[in-house]
Amino acid sequence: PHSFLIDAFNRRHTYLRLSLTEKCNLRCRYCMPAEGVPVSPSDALLTSEELLRVARLFVREGVTKIRLTGGEPTLRKDLVEIVRGLGQLRAEGLLQLGITTNGLALQRSIDELVDLGLTHYNFSLDTLNPYSFELMTRRPAAGLDKVLNSIARVASFSQTVVKINVVVMRGFNDQEDLKDILNWAKDLPIIVRFIEYMPFDGNKWSRNALVPYRTLLERIEQWFGPAQRLCDGPNDTTKHYKIAGARGSFGFITSMSEHFCGSCNRLRITADGNVKNCLFDGEGELSLKAALRSPASHDDHLKEIIGRAVGRKHARHGGVGSLEDLAKNINRPMVRIGG
Ligand code: GTP
Ligand code: 5AD
Ligand code: SF4
Repeated sequence: PHSFLIDAFNRRHTYLRLSLTEKCNLRCRYCMPAEGVPVSPSDALLTSEELLRVARLFVREGVTKIRLTGGEPTLRKDLVEIVRGLGQLRAEGLLQLGITTNGLALQRSIDELVDLGLTHYNFSLDTLNPYSFELMTRRPAAGLDKVLNSIARVASFSQTVVKINVVVMRGFNDQEDLKDILNWAKDLPIIVRFIEYMPFDGNKWSRNALVPYRTLLERIEQWFGPAQRLCDGPNDTTKHYKIAGARGSFGFITSMSEHFCGSCNRLRITADGNVKNCLFDGEGELSLKAALRSPASHDDHLKEIIGRAVGRKHARHGGVGSLEDLAKNINRPMVRIGG
């Protein structure tokens, strides 16, 4: 990428996460408080034209991967239009277009989205058990069938890549729920990723609720026998493993017990138009909105702002020291970041 996308630690930012909305149709307890969070008025969110302009600029400057996030990105009315516009960036160097979704409202647009080049689908699904689903999402378990139908449909296309994101919380879904998910996934061509619970504004994180990946790996090996460690991609968030005889694989996103900041290649655009240089940096955000909306708006001005945000990026965890300090950190609630 061009130099303004390279930070002080020589990390090259080639992966852009675009948050499309702050709204969600679930209320997952690791993501937000039960009552939800105040969201920005809709005129404070980037329009599809603004999003596409920003995305095009990033792709021209060296970004090769874009992932759509939220809130829940499928709640965005113009999702298909946005994906259509992003699909056209393939001609300019975009190699991978993905989405992270809870799958609840995806069903109706799957065929069209796949056709437009949205190929990488990460589904947030923390349990297959209806009782645990309600406990984790604070919404009726009736949604579970819709999620499973979406996953099956997406996985039926040969050009798609499907991953399941499971946030693990001690006492909620850290035992039988995980075993069930691995049993279910064994014969499917998908990757199940267990995610260490991270602290964000309003999610009541505690160290006690965090189950470090080594503990989970031990548990999984007791259930299924020794797992084989696989290779990971160069900028992967995930440590990958395979159970003997399984079709798919599983992995751990170890943000808390073994961070992967040294190979971070990710920048974020929040739905309200800030460039966010790190998941945990609440103070390193800079707004692109005024520059986008000014009558004399010029890409050089946008690049200058993005470069400043990249220049401020800390070595790890937004420059915050201990996990307890992270929990006290000034940041957004997860639903307004998008992961
Ligand atoms: P792939 O593109 O399939 O590799 O997905 P991803 O892991 O980049 O993104 P996804 O949206 O599926 O996120 C899965 C989990 O990883 C979520 O809990 C995210 O918050 C977390 N995650 C994603 N990017 C980062 C990151 O840069 N730093 C940290 N600490 N966690 C991240
Ligand atoms: N800790 C870890 N992962 C989280 N996610 C949401 N909140 C948290 C948290 N507190 C995950 C969701 C989704 C992804 C974007 O982030 O499961 O898959
Ligand atoms: Fe990158 Fe920040 Fe995540 Fe570390 S915590 S991998 S620096 S976004």
